Amino acid sequence: MAATAPSRRARAYAALRYPDTSHVSRRWRSIHLLVLGIGLLAIAASSTDGLPTWLTQLLTIAVLGVAFVFTAEYAVRLWSAPESPRYAGLSDGMARLRWAVSTNGAICLLAALPLFVIALGTMRADNQHAPIFCIIWVLSLARHAPAMGTLARVISNERATLTSVVVIFLMVLIIAATGAHIMERDGQPKTFGTLPDALWWAVVTLTTTGYGDTVPLTAGGRMIGSVVMVSGILVLALMTGILATGFAEEERRREYLRVWDQITKVPMFASLGTVTLSEIVSKLRVRNYPPRIIVVRRDEPGESMFFISEGEVEVRLPRGAVALGQGAFFGEMALLDRLPRSATVVTTRPTTLLVLYASDFYEIAANIPSLVEAVEREARRRRAENRGEAATVETT
Ligand code: CMP
Repeated sequence: MAATAPSRRARAYAALRYPDTSHVSRRWRSIHLLVLGIGLLAIAASSTDGLPTWLTQLLTIAVLGVAFVFTAEYAVRLWSAPESPRYAGLSDGMARLRWAVSTNGAICLLAALPLFVIALGTMRADNQHAPIFCIIWVLSLARHAPAMGTLARVISNERATLTSVVVIFLMVLIIAATGAHIMERDGQPKTFGTLPDALWWAVVTLTTTGYGDTVPLTAGGRMIGSVVMVSGILVLALMTGILATGFAEEERRREYLRVWDQITKVPMFASLGTVTLSEIVSKLRVRNYPPRIIVVRRDEPGESMFFISEGEVEVRLPRGAVALGQGAFFGEMALLDRLPRSATVVTTRPTTLLVLYASDFYEIAANIPSLVEAVEREARRRRAENRGEAATVETT
């Protein structure tokens, strides 16, 4: 009895953990998204006027159902919290307490709250406070977006540059607001009479929103407005550029680490020195394929070659299929001969491939000839084998 309880708890923890790739976890994520969608729709629908009583009751039941699922999720997460590596070494009670007071725990609890509020009769789904649950439930969507973590890292990495842009933004904002206030205060005391009023106009103009509720009327005010509008576009473009570059760099870094992880499984790279290896790593891309996927198709042009770091593929040749496993490569012939693919290659099980694009292959051929010689040797053997000349290959 005592032995089965922890394993069930570990399974529950793994199923609810993001971003676990297991079947159960993926299914739970789909259910979670569906339930969340129903909840948000129910609350949005109940905020409209003039609904018949039966529909209001139905929507309340839907919200209750959604909140019930989230309450069950909270209970399971609380129960399985001691399985988290973060709380290793703590007693079960302490681990649960630590999880309950964490941000994640608080969001989970808030998501379950409508159940109790509605059950206690203090709120119905069409109550004016109900939309607050839209915000709380939407927060749990963050778990489905791994890019949130990437965004946090990008902001942290680029904080110095971003701070400079924010400082420029604030400088333009304050100078523009003060200038407009001086120019417009006599003519429009209601909208530009105080600095905070003028600041509101400056923010609306600088962010290129332009509600049109406050408009400068003097020539000086309009000139300031023109400068602010153009500055707004520049500042936003700068911000976008910094974030986009940061995202691309972060993705490149992660891909680099993923390749390092996989490249150790390909023996032909093992003999290379660290410097050479790091040059190759920056040129490879990791791609995961499920079984029965055509990776290259006979007679199509070849733009890349592949190294198998995990799994297996089948090369479909006229004389029969040849299996290639971990450490092998394929797709080299089209690059070496600059001819269409000589065979179709299909994955036979979940497979991880390292992809090397043609332009990078030719660059490596120039810089690391020993590696390409080994590829050429194998290609010669394969060509001869395909022609039925296997015995003569070794001497050529
Ligand atoms: P390519 O012609 O670019 O695309 C199909 C690939 O199948 C080919 O490169 C080789 O990598 C691989 N291939 C062709 N013949 C053989 C063989 N006899 N044994 C193993 N792989 C082969």
